[in-house]
Amino acid sequence: TTIEGINFNLTEEHLAVQAAARDFAQNELLPTAIERDTHSVFPYEQIKKMGELGFMGMMVSPEYGGGGMDTISYVLAMEEISKVDASASVAMSVNNSLVCWGLEEFGTEEQKQKYLKPLASGEIIGAFCLSEPEAGSDATSQKTTAEDKGDYYLVNGTKNWITNGGTSSVCLVIAQTHPELKHKGINALIIEKGTEGFVVGKKEDKMGIRSSDTHSLMFSDVKVPKENRIGADGFGFKFAMTTLNGGRIGIAAQALGIAAGAYELAVKYSKERKSFGKAISEHQAIQFKLAEMATKIEAARLLVYKAARQKDEGKDYVESAAMAKLFASDVAMWATTEAVQIHGGYGYVKEFHVERLMRDAKITQIYEGTSEIQKLVIAREILK
Ligand code: CAA
Ligand code: FAD
Repeated sequence: TTIEGINFNLTEEHLAVQAAARDFAQNELLPTAIERDTHSVFPYEQIKKMGELGFMGMMVSPEYGGGGMDTISYVLAMEEISKVDASASVAMSVNNSLVCWGLEEFGTEEQKQKYLKPLASGEIIGAFCLSEPEAGSDATSQKTTAEDKGDYYLVNGTKNWITNGGTSSVCLVIAQTHPELKHKGINALIIEKGTEGFVVGKKEDKMGIRSSDTHSLMFSDVKVPKENRIGADGFGFKFAMTTLNGGRIGIAAQALGIAAGAYELAVKYSKERKSFGKAISEHQAIQFKLAEMATKIEAARLLVYKAARQKDEGKDYVESAAMAKLFASDVAMWATTEAVQIHGGYGYVKEFHVERLMRDAKITQIYEGTSEIQKLVIAREILK
Protein backbone atom coordinates (compact mmCIF):
# COMPACT_ATOMS: atom_id res chain seq x y z
CA THR A 1 0.00 0.00 0.00
CA THR A 2 1.31 3.45 -0.81
CA ILE A 3 0.26 6.80 0.64
CA GLU A 4 2.17 9.88 -0.45
CA GLY A 5 4.98 7.69 -1.74
CA ILE A 6 5.32 5.79 1.51
CA ASN A 7 5.74 2.09 0.99
CA PHE A 8 4.40 -0.18 3.70
CA ASN A 9 5.79 -3.42 2.26
CA LEU A 10 6.56 -5.57 5.26
CA THR A 11 9.72 -7.69 5.15
CA GLU A 12 10.29 -11.21 6.50
CA GLU A 13 11.91 -9.58 9.54
CA HIS A 14 8.84 -7.46 10.21
CA LEU A 15 6.59 -10.50 10.03
CA ALA A 16 8.92 -12.43 12.35
CA VAL A 17 8.78 -9.64 14.95
CA GLN A 18 4.99 -9.55 14.65
CA ALA A 19 4.74 -13.34 15.08
CA ALA A 20 7.09 -13.31 18.08
CA ALA A 21 5.05 -10.56 19.76
CA ARG A 22 1.79 -12.38 19.01
CA ASP A 23 3.11 -15.67 20.46
CA PHE A 24 4.44 -13.93 23.54
CA ALA A 25 1.15 -12.10 24.13
CA GLN A 26 -0.99 -15.20 23.68
CA ASN A 27 1.23 -17.53 25.71
CA GLU A 28 2.67 -15.30 28.43
CA LEU A 29 0.27 -12.40 28.92
CA LEU A 30 -3.21 -13.73 28.19
CA PRO A 31 -3.31 -16.43 30.91
CA THR A 32 -2.77 -13.90 33.73
CA ALA A 33 -4.30 -10.74 32.22
CA ILE A 34 -7.67 -10.91 34.01
CA GLU A 35 -6.13 -11.78 37.38
CA ARG A 36 -3.55 -8.98 37.16
CA ASP A 37 -6.24 -6.51 36.09
CA THR A 38 -8.52 -7.49 38.97
CA HIS A 39 -5.83 -7.18 41.61
CA SER A 40 -3.80 -4.39 39.98
CA VAL A 41 -0.64 -6.48 39.80
CA PHE A 42 2.27 -5.32 37.61
CA PRO A 43 3.53 -7.96 35.10
CA TYR A 44 7.05 -8.15 36.57
CA GLU A 45 8.00 -11.55 35.14
CA GLN A 46 6.44 -10.85 31.78
CA ILE A 47 8.21 -7.50 31.41
CA LYS A 48 11.50 -9.19 32.28
CA LYS A 49 10.89 -11.72 29.51
CA MET A 50 9.92 -8.93 27.13
CA GLY A 51 13.33 -7.42 27.87
CA GLU A 52 15.03 -10.73 27.10
CA LEU A 53 13.10 -10.96 23.82
CA GLY A 54 14.24 -7.45 22.87
CA PHE A 55 10.85 -5.72 23.17
CA MET A 56 11.95 -3.09 25.70
CA GLY A 57 14.54 -1.35 23.53
CA MET A 58 13.46 -2.30 20.03
CA MET A 59 14.69 0.79 18.18
CA VAL A 60 17.90 1.34 20.17
CA SER A 61 21.04 0.56 18.19
CA PRO A 62 22.74 -2.76 19.06
CA GLU A 63 25.77 -0.74 20.23
CA TYR A 64 23.68 0.21 23.27
CA GLY A 65 22.05 -3.16 23.76
CA GLY A 66 18.94 -2.55 21.66
CA GLY A 67 17.33 -4.39 18.76
CA GLY A 68 18.30 -1.87 16.07
CA MET A 69 14.82 -2.19 14.56
CA ASP A 70 12.67 0.36 12.77
CA THR A 71 9.48 2.03 13.95
CA ILE A 72 7.33 -0.27 11.80
CA SER A 73 8.67 -3.28 13.75
CA TYR A 74 7.88 -1.42 16.96
CA VAL A 75 4.26 -0.66 16.02
CA LEU A 76 3.72 -4.22 14.82
CA ALA A 77 4.90 -5.53 18.20
CA MET A 78 2.91 -2.88 20.11
CA GLU A 79 -0.26 -3.87 18.24
CA GLU A 80 0.13 -7.56 19.06
CA ILE A 81 0.95 -7.03 22.74
CA SER A 82 -1.91 -4.50 23.07
CA LYS A 83 -4.45 -6.89 21.55
CA VAL A 84 -4.06 -8.86 24.75
CA ASP A 85 -2.70 -6.59 27.46
CA ALA A 86 -2.51 -2.80 27.27
CA SER A 87 -0.98 -2.65 30.76
CA ALA A 88 2.11 -4.51 29.56
CA SER A 89 2.19 -2.49 26.35
CA VAL A 90 2.14 0.91 28.09
CA ALA A 91 5.20 -0.11 30.13
CA MET A 92 6.79 -1.15 26.85
CA SER A 93 5.76 2.02 25.03
CA VAL A 94 7.09 4.38 27.71
CA ASN A 95 10.39 2.50 27.95
CA ASN A 96 10.89 2.34 24.17
CA SER A 97 9.65 5.62 22.84
CA LEU A 98 9.83 8.08 25.70
CA VAL A 99 12.84 6.90 27.68
CA CYS A 100 15.19 4.96 25.36
CA TRP A 101 14.51 7.01 22.23
CA GLY A 102 15.01 10.31 24.05
CA LEU A 103 18.27 9.13 25.61
CA GLU A 104 19.69 7.75 22.38
CA GLU A 105 18.72 10.82 20.40
CA PHE A 106 19.80 13.52 22.86
CA GLY A 107 21.90 11.89 25.61
CA THR A 108 25.67 12.11 26.02
CA GLU A 109 27.90 9.07 25.43
CA GLU A 110 28.31 8.70 29.21
CA GLN A 111 24.52 8.83 29.75
CA LYS A 112 24.01 6.21 27.07
CA GLN A 113 26.63 3.87 28.54
CA LYS A 114 25.31 4.28 32.06
CA TYR A 115 21.53 4.38 31.53
CA LEU A 116 20.53 3.50 27.98
CA LYS A 117 22.28 0.11 27.96
CA PRO A 118 20.43 -1.40 30.94
CA LEU A 119 17.16 0.27 29.85
CA ALA A 120 17.35 -1.02 26.28
CA SER A 121 18.09 -4.57 27.37
CA GLY A 122 15.17 -4.51 29.81
CA GLU A 123 17.47 -5.00 32.81
CA ILE A 124 15.85 -1.91 34.33
CA ILE A 125 12.68 0.07 33.51
CA GLY A 126 12.41 3.79 32.88
CA ALA A 127 9.75 6.44 33.46
CA PHE A 128 8.99 9.76 31.74
CA CYS A 129 7.85 12.48 34.13
CA LEU A 130 6.25 15.53 32.58
CA SER A 131 2.72 15.76 34.06
CA GLU A 132 2.05 17.46 37.37
CA PRO A 133 -1.05 17.95 39.52
CA GLU A 134 -1.57 21.35 37.86
CA ALA A 135 0.22 20.84 34.56
CA GLY A 136 -1.20 18.13 32.31
CA SER A 137 -2.30 19.43 28.91
CA ASP A 138 -0.81 22.79 29.83
CA ALA A 139 2.62 21.24 30.05
CA THR A 140 4.66 24.45 29.82
CA SER A 141 3.37 25.57 33.23
CA GLN A 142 5.79 23.33 35.13
CA LYS A 143 5.84 23.90 38.89
CA THR A 144 8.66 21.45 39.61
CA THR A 145 11.89 23.41 39.89
CA ALA A 146 15.49 22.47 39.14
CA GLU A 147 17.55 25.20 40.75
CA ASP A 148 21.03 25.63 39.29
CA LYS A 149 23.52 25.20 42.16
CA GLY A 150 26.73 25.21 40.13
CA ASP A 151 27.71 21.57 39.76
CA TYR A 152 24.27 20.18 40.55
CA TYR A 153 20.53 20.93 40.29
CA LEU A 154 18.31 21.05 43.36
CA VAL A 155 14.95 19.55 42.40
CA ASN A 156 11.66 20.23 44.22
CA GLY A 157 8.11 19.38 43.18
CA THR A 158 5.58 16.66 42.41
CA LYS A 159 4.96 14.64 39.26
CA ASN A 160 1.58 13.00 38.72
CA TRP A 161 0.29 9.93 36.92
CA ILE A 162 3.70 8.47 36.21
CA THR A 163 3.59 5.18 34.29
CA ASN A 164 6.20 2.72 35.68
CA GLY A 165 6.31 5.10 38.66
CA GLY A 166 6.95 2.41 41.24
CA THR A 167 8.82 -0.11 39.09
CA SER A 168 11.27 2.18 37.29
CA SER A 169 14.90 2.61 38.31
CA VAL A 170 15.54 5.68 36.20
CA CYS A 171 13.24 8.69 35.65
CA LEU A 172 13.49 11.42 33.04
CA VAL A 173 12.16 14.43 34.94
CA ILE A 174 11.10 17.71 33.36
CA ALA A 175 11.61 20.75 35.63
CA GLN A 176 11.82 24.54 35.44
CA THR A 177 15.23 26.17 35.95
CA HIS A 178 14.67 29.68 34.57
CA PRO A 179 10.98 30.65 35.10
CA GLU A 180 11.54 34.00 33.43
CA LEU A 181 12.34 32.17 30.17
CA LYS A 182 9.06 30.21 30.37
CA HIS A 183 9.25 26.94 28.38
CA LYS A 184 12.73 27.86 27.14
CA GLY A 185 13.99 27.67 30.74
CA ILE A 186 12.90 24.07 31.32
CA ASN A 187 15.39 21.20 31.70
CA ALA A 188 15.17 17.41 31.39
CA LEU A 189 17.11 15.54 34.08
CA ILE A 190 17.93 11.88 34.61
CA ILE A 191 17.11 11.05 38.24
CA GLU A 192 17.82 7.67 39.78
CA LYS A 193 15.49 6.01 42.25
CA GLY A 194 17.01 5.93 45.68
CA THR A 195 18.40 9.45 45.40
CA GLU A 196 17.88 11.21 48.73
CA GLY A 197 14.65 13.22 48.83
CA PHE A 198 13.02 11.29 45.95
CA VAL A 199 9.88 9.56 47.22
CA VAL A 200 7.41 7.37 45.34
CA GLY A 201 3.87 8.45 46.20
CA LYS A 202 0.58 6.61 46.13
CA LYS A 203 -0.31 4.10 43.46
CA GLU A 204 -3.42 5.10 41.50
CA ASP A 205 -6.50 2.84 41.54
CA LYS A 206 -7.57 3.10 37.91
CA MET A 207 -10.55 2.33 35.64
CA GLY A 208 -8.37 0.56 33.09
CA ILE A 209 -4.78 -0.54 32.42
CA ARG A 210 -5.04 -1.65 36.03
CA SER A 211 -2.02 -3.93 35.80
CA SER A 212 0.19 -0.96 34.88
CA ASP A 213 1.94 0.89 37.64
CA THR A 214 0.90 4.57 37.93
CA HIS A 215 2.23 6.72 40.79
CA SER A 216 2.84 10.27 41.81
CA LEU A 217 6.51 11.07 42.51
CA MET A 218 7.75 13.61 45.03
CA PHE A 219 11.05 15.48 44.99
CA SER A 220 12.25 17.49 47.95
CA ASP A 221 15.73 18.98 47.76
CA VAL A 222 16.91 16.22 45.45
CA LYS A 223 20.48 16.83 44.28
CA VAL A 224 21.00 15.88 40.64
CA PRO A 225 24.50 16.11 39.13
CA LYS A 226 24.83 18.50 36.18
CA GLU A 227 26.02 15.65 33.96
CA ASN A 228 22.50 14.17 34.26
CA ARG A 229 20.95 17.00 32.26
CA ILE A 230 19.83 15.95 28.77
CA GLY A 231 20.86 18.44 26.10
CA ALA A 232 21.72 22.10 26.55
CA ASP A 233 20.42 24.30 29.37
CA GLY A 234 16.78 25.08 28.56
CA PHE A 235 16.29 22.19 26.10
CA GLY A 236 13.95 20.24 28.41
CA PHE A 237 10.60 21.28 26.96
CA LYS A 238 11.71 20.72 23.38
CA PHE A 239 13.08 17.36 24.55
CA ALA A 240 9.68 16.42 26.02
CA MET A 241 7.69 17.52 22.96
CA THR A 242 10.04 15.90 20.44
CA THR A 243 10.05 12.66 22.42
CA LEU A 244 6.25 12.71 22.74
CA ASN A 245 5.86 12.89 18.95
CA GLY A 246 7.30 9.38 18.75
CA GLY A 247 5.49 8.33 21.91
CA ARG A 248 2.20 9.21 20.27
CA ILE A 249 2.94 6.70 17.50
CA GLY A 250 3.43 4.05 20.20
CA ILE A 251 0.14 4.91 21.93
CA ALA A 252 -1.64 5.03 18.56
CA ALA A 253 -0.35 1.49 17.96
CA GLN A 254 -1.56 0.55 21.43
CA ALA A 255 -5.05 1.90 20.64
CA LEU A 256 -5.00 0.04 17.32
CA GLY A 257 -4.10 -3.18 19.14
CA ILE A 258 -6.86 -2.77 21.73
CA ALA A 259 -9.40 -2.22 18.91
CA ALA A 260 -8.09 -5.15 16.86
CA GLY A 261 -8.02 -7.44 19.90
CA ALA A 262 -11.66 -6.66 20.70
CA TYR A 263 -12.62 -7.10 17.04
CA GLU A 264 -10.96 -10.53 16.81
CA LEU A 265 -12.78 -11.68 19.94
CA ALA A 266 -16.07 -10.34 18.55
CA VAL A 267 -15.65 -12.17 15.22
CA LYS A 268 -14.92 -15.45 17.02
CA TYR A 269 -17.80 -15.07 19.47
CA SER A 270 -20.29 -14.09 16.77
CA LYS A 271 -19.66 -17.38 14.98
CA GLU A 272 -20.14 -19.40 18.16
CA ARG A 273 -23.14 -17.70 19.76
CA LYS A 274 -26.55 -18.70 18.47
CA SER A 275 -29.83 -16.81 18.61
CA PHE A 276 -33.09 -17.36 16.72
CA GLY A 277 -31.75 -20.62 15.32
CA LYS A 278 -28.51 -19.35 13.79
CA ALA A 279 -25.11 -17.94 14.66
CA ILE A 280 -25.41 -14.25 15.54
CA SER A 281 -22.83 -13.60 12.76
CA GLU A 282 -25.63 -14.47 10.35
CA HIS A 283 -27.74 -11.53 11.51
CA GLN A 284 -27.06 -8.59 9.25
CA ALA A 285 -26.99 -6.17 12.22
CA ILE A 286 -23.97 -8.05 13.62
CA GLN A 287 -22.34 -8.35 10.20
CA PHE A 288 -22.61 -4.59 9.72
CA LYS A 289 -21.00 -3.96 13.10
CA LEU A 290 -18.11 -6.27 12.16
CA ALA A 291 -17.75 -4.68 8.72
CA GLU A 292 -17.61 -1.20 10.20
CA MET A 293 -15.16 -2.30 12.90
CA ALA A 294 -12.87 -3.92 10.32
CA THR A 295 -12.95 -0.81 8.14
CA LYS A 296 -12.19 1.68 10.90
CA ILE A 297 -9.45 -0.53 12.35
CA GLU A 298 -7.81 -0.78 8.91
CA ALA A 299 -7.99 3.01 8.54
CA ALA A 300 -6.35 3.42 11.96
CA ARG A 301 -3.67 0.92 10.96
CA LEU A 302 -2.84 2.91 7.83
CA LEU A 303 -2.45 6.10 9.87
CA VAL A 304 -0.22 4.33 12.40
CA TYR A 305 1.97 2.79 9.68
CA LYS A 306 2.16 6.10 7.86
CA ALA A 307 3.43 7.92 10.95
CA ALA A 308 5.90 5.11 11.67
CA ARG A 309 7.19 5.11 8.09
CA GLN A 310 7.61 8.87 8.07
CA LYS A 311 9.65 8.62 11.26
CA ASP A 312 11.80 5.86 9.74
CA GLU A 313 12.32 7.89 6.58
CA GLY A 314 13.42 10.96 8.49
CA LYS A 315 10.36 12.96 7.45
CA ASP A 316 8.38 15.27 9.71
CA TYR A 317 5.83 13.17 11.61
CA VAL A 318 4.36 15.64 14.15
CA GLU A 319 1.03 15.85 12.34
CA SER A 320 0.79 12.20 11.28
CA ALA A 321 1.60 10.98 14.82
CA ALA A 322 -1.11 13.23 16.28
CA MET A 323 -3.61 12.13 13.60
CA ALA A 324 -2.81 8.46 14.22
CA LYS A 325 -3.28 8.83 17.97
CA LEU A 326 -6.46 10.90 17.67
CA PHE A 327 -8.09 8.51 15.22
CA ALA A 328 -6.87 5.18 16.61
CA SER A 329 -7.88 6.06 20.18
CA ASP A 330 -11.42 6.97 19.07
CA VAL A 331 -11.60 3.72 17.08
CA ALA A 332 -10.40 1.81 20.16
CA MET A 333 -13.12 3.31 22.39
CA TRP A 334 -15.83 2.76 19.79
CA ALA A 335 -14.77 -0.73 18.63
CA THR A 336 -14.38 -2.09 22.16
CA THR A 337 -17.87 -0.81 23.01
CA GLU A 338 -19.23 -2.58 19.91
CA ALA A 339 -17.36 -5.75 20.87
CA VAL A 340 -19.04 -5.71 24.29
CA GLN A 341 -22.40 -5.25 22.53
CA ILE A 342 -21.76 -8.22 20.24
CA HIS A 343 -21.00 -10.33 23.33
CA GLY A 344 -24.29 -9.33 24.99
CA GLY A 345 -24.36 -10.05 28.73
CA TYR A 346 -21.17 -12.10 28.46
CA GLY A 347 -19.43 -8.96 27.28
CA TYR A 348 -20.18 -7.30 30.58
CA VAL A 349 -18.36 -9.84 32.73
CA LYS A 350 -14.64 -10.27 33.17
CA GLU A 351 -13.95 -13.70 31.71
CA PHE A 352 -14.58 -12.72 28.08
CA HIS A 353 -11.86 -9.99 28.07
CA VAL A 354 -13.80 -7.38 26.07
CA GLU A 355 -14.98 -5.44 29.13
CA ARG A 356 -11.32 -5.05 30.15
CA LEU A 357 -10.37 -3.92 26.64
CA MET A 358 -13.20 -1.35 26.77
CA ARG A 359 -11.92 0.03 30.09
CA ASP A 360 -8.34 0.01 28.77
CA ALA A 361 -9.32 1.81 25.56
CA LYS A 362 -10.40 4.96 27.41
CA ILE A 363 -6.91 5.92 28.53
CA THR A 364 -5.65 6.13 24.94
CA GLN A 365 -7.84 9.25 24.49
CA ILE A 366 -6.23 10.83 27.56
CA TYR A 367 -2.50 10.16 27.97
CA GLU A 368 0.40 11.42 25.84
CA GLY A 369 -1.82 14.38 24.99
CA THR A 370 -5.63 14.18 25.18
CA SER A 371 -7.68 13.99 21.97
CA GLU A 372 -8.33 17.72 22.33
CA ILE A 373 -4.56 18.37 22.47
CA GLN A 374 -3.99 16.19 19.38
CA LYS A 375 -6.54 18.35 17.53
CA LEU A 376 -4.71 21.46 18.71
CA VAL A 377 -1.38 20.01 17.45
CA ILE A 378 -2.92 19.02 14.09
CA ALA A 379 -4.63 22.40 13.64
CA ARG A 380 -1.37 24.25 14.37
CA GLU A 381 0.44 22.12 11.79
CA ILE A 382 -2.29 22.73 9.19
CA LEU A 383 -2.45 26.46 9.79
CA LYS A 384 1.23 27.30 10.25
N1 CAA B 1 6.90 18.76 18.56
C1 CAA B 1 7.98 19.58 18.72
N2 CAA B 1 7.91 20.75 19.35
C2 CAA B 1 6.71 21.11 19.86
C3 CAA B 1 5.57 20.31 19.74
C4 CAA B 1 5.70 19.09 19.04
N3 CAA B 1 4.65 18.27 18.89
N4 CAA B 1 4.53 20.92 20.35
C5 CAA B 1 5.02 22.08 20.85
N5 CAA B 1 6.32 22.18 20.55
C6 CAA B 1 7.22 23.29 20.89
C7 CAA B 1 6.85 24.56 20.15
O1 CAA B 1 7.45 24.59 18.88
C8 CAA B 1 7.39 25.63 21.09
O2 CAA B 1 8.79 25.72 20.93
P1 CAA B 1 9.47 27.12 20.42
O3 CAA B 1 8.99 28.20 21.33
O4 CAA B 1 10.94 26.83 20.51
O5 CAA B 1 8.98 27.28 19.02
C9 CAA B 1 7.18 25.01 22.46
O6 CAA B 1 7.06 23.60 22.26
C10 CAA B 1 5.94 25.53 23.15
O7 CAA B 1 4.85 25.29 22.29
P2 CAA B 1 3.61 26.27 22.21
O8 CAA B 1 4.07 27.68 22.12
O9 CAA B 1 2.72 25.74 21.11
O10 CAA B 1 2.99 26.04 23.67
P3 CAA B 1 1.50 25.85 24.16
O11 CAA B 1 1.54 25.92 25.61
O12 CAA B 1 0.58 26.75 23.40
O13 CAA B 1 1.13 24.34 23.67
C11 CAA B 1 1.18 21.94 23.93
C12 CAA B 1 1.93 23.24 24.04
C13 CAA B 1 1.26 21.46 22.48
C14 CAA B 1 -0.25 22.04 24.34
C15 CAA B 1 1.96 21.00 24.87
O14 CAA B 1 1.94 21.52 26.18
C16 CAA B 1 1.44 19.57 24.89
O15 CAA B 1 1.77 18.80 24.01
N6 CAA B 1 0.63 19.20 25.93
C17 CAA B 1 0.26 17.83 26.16
C18 CAA B 1 1.24 17.22 27.11
C19 CAA B 1 1.37 15.74 26.94
O16 CAA B 1 1.28 15.20 25.85
N7 CAA B 1 1.65 15.05 28.03
C20 CAA B 1 1.92 13.68 28.02
C21 CAA B 1 2.67 13.27 29.24
S1 CAA B 1 3.54 11.71 29.04
C22 CAA B 1 2.38 10.53 29.10
O17 CAA B 1 1.22 10.80 29.15
C23 CAA B 1 2.92 9.11 29.08
C24 CAA B 1 1.92 8.07 29.21
O18 CAA B 1 0.81 8.31 29.60
C25 CAA B 1 2.17 6.73 28.87
P1 FAD C 1 -6.21 18.56 31.91
O1 FAD C 1 -5.07 19.13 31.18
O2 FAD C 1 -6.63 19.23 33.18
O3 FAD C 1 -7.46 18.45 30.94
C1 FAD C 1 -8.81 18.29 31.38
C2 FAD C 1 -9.71 18.35 30.15
O4 FAD C 1 -9.61 19.65 29.53
C3 FAD C 1 -9.33 17.34 29.06
O5 FAD C 1 -10.45 16.86 28.40
C4 FAD C 1 -8.49 18.18 28.12
O6 FAD C 1 -8.45 17.66 26.81
C5 FAD C 1 -9.22 19.50 28.18
N1 FAD C 1 -8.34 20.63 27.81
C6 FAD C 1 -7.28 21.12 28.52
N2 FAD C 1 -6.70 22.14 27.85
C7 FAD C 1 -7.42 22.29 26.71
C8 FAD C 1 -7.33 23.18 25.58
N3 FAD C 1 -6.35 24.09 25.49
N4 FAD C 1 -8.24 23.06 24.59
C9 FAD C 1 -9.21 22.12 24.66
N5 FAD C 1 -9.35 21.25 25.67
C10 FAD C 1 -8.47 21.34 26.68
N6 FAD C 1 2.12 11.83 32.34
C11 FAD C 1 3.48 11.75 32.32
O7 FAD C 1 4.16 12.75 32.28
N7 FAD C 1 4.09 10.54 32.32
C12 FAD C 1 3.40 9.38 32.35
O8 FAD C 1 4.01 8.31 32.35
C13 FAD C 1 1.97 9.43 32.39
N8 FAD C 1 1.24 8.30 32.47
C14 FAD C 1 -0.11 8.39 32.68
C15 FAD C 1 -0.84 7.23 32.96
C16 FAD C 1 -2.19 7.32 33.28
C17 FAD C 1 -2.96 6.09 33.61
C18 FAD C 1 -2.84 8.59 33.29
C19 FAD C 1 -4.28 8.73 33.67
C20 FAD C 1 -2.13 9.71 32.95
C21 FAD C 1 -0.75 9.63 32.66
N9 FAD C 1 0.00 10.78 32.42
C22 FAD C 1 1.37 10.70 32.38
C23 FAD C 1 -0.66 12.09 32.45
C24 FAD C 1 -1.42 12.44 31.18
O9 FAD C 1 -0.54 12.71 30.14
C25 FAD C 1 -2.34 13.61 31.51
O10 FAD C 1 -3.36 13.13 32.35
C26 FAD C 1 -2.91 14.26 30.27
O11 FAD C 1 -1.91 14.88 29.51
C27 FAD C 1 -4.03 15.26 30.59
O12 FAD C 1 -3.65 16.15 31.60
P2 FAD C 1 -4.63 16.41 32.86
O13 FAD C 1 -4.96 15.09 33.42
O14 FAD C 1 -3.99 17.40 33.73
O15 FAD C 1 -5.93 17.01 32.23
